[in-house]
Order: sequence, then structure tokens, then C-alpha cells
Amino acid sequence: MALQVIYSSQAATPMSVADLEQILVDAREGNARRGVTGALVYVDGVFLQILEGPEAAVRSLMDSIAKDTRHTALKVVHEVEVDPPMFHTWQMAYLTPTAGELAGWLGLEGTASLEDLLAEVHQAPSKAPRVAEGILNALAG
Ligand SMILES: Cc1cc2nc3c(=O)[nH]c(=O)nc-3n(C[C@H](O)[C@H](O)[C@H](O)COP(=O)(O)O)c2cc1C
Repeated sequence: MALQVIYSSQAATPMSVADLEQILVDAREGNARRGVTGALVYVDGVFLQILEGPEAAVRSLMDSIAKDTRHTALKVVHEVEVDPPMFHTWQMAYLTPTAGELAGWLGLEGTASLEDLLAEVHQAPSKAPRVAEGILNALAG
């Protein structure tokens, strides 16, 4: 059994490719150490991250991530037990979806921003698993 946490945050400054690569290096190294897996989505200054693994490992990682000055306004969107972990083959997958893909993750036609998606999931948390599925399907190509 693993705990899956989905959170959103705002980049503290506009992220360059090098900034994002550094976050992924930190994430993959830290996650390998902790037995945590997941996915990071970044679009236009907004992050959505899914973390999953042993509960204690995920909670202590969340404490670390919350203190990271590269982002602010961290909000937990959804927490659920998953068995097996959905992203177990990904130390930390990275995606930067199109507005069409974001709408698709909500089951909508047309386009959506990552902020739209987060507002929607905030209002209707039952949509969070569908978003996680959408991310997994996008990774599967
Ligand atoms: C958006 C974002 C996502 C991050 N994701 C992870 C992650 O999945 N795993 C991880 O170990 N660190 C991640 N980090 C880096 C951590 O915040 C932190 O730098 C790292 O865990 C080292 O912290 P420590 O010195 O307390 O161990 C992330 C940072 C940011 C800004």
C-alpha cells in the first residue's frame, strides 16, 4: 500500500529549462533514496506533482518540498491510498501538456490551463483520480 499525494504550487520565478532540469535531478535522486515515485507537470509557472510511496517517506518529503524556495503557495489537492502505486516505474516523470491535453484530463473538449484544471479539481476532488489516469496515459504515449 502506498500513499499518493497530489499537490499544486506556483513557481517563485519563471522557470528556465535548466531550472526545471535541476528540480528533476533533485527529485529523482531524492526519490530513489526514499522509495518514492511520481510525476511532475509544469505549465506557465504552475506545478502539479504526484508523489507516491510509503506514507512516512511521502510525508517527510512533502515537508522538505514545502520548504523549497523555488516555489510557493503549495496546496494539497488530493490524497489517496494506491496499491500498487500508479507511477511505480517513474522515479519522477515530467510532462508539459498542451491545453487540449489538460482539458482531456478533465474529460472535457477544447482547452484548459493548468490553473483551470486545478480550480476544477479543487471544487470536485472526485476528479483527481481521472487527472492522475490522464497523466499516466500521456506518459504511456
Ligand atoms: C516543484 C518541486 C518538486 C520537487 N520534487 C521533489 C521530489 O519529488 N523528490 C525530492 O526528493 N525532491 C523534490 N524537490 C526538491 C526538494 O524540495 C528538496 O530540494 C530536496 O528534497 C532536498 O531537500 P533536503 O535537503 O531536505 O533533503 C522538488 C522541488 C520542487 C521545487
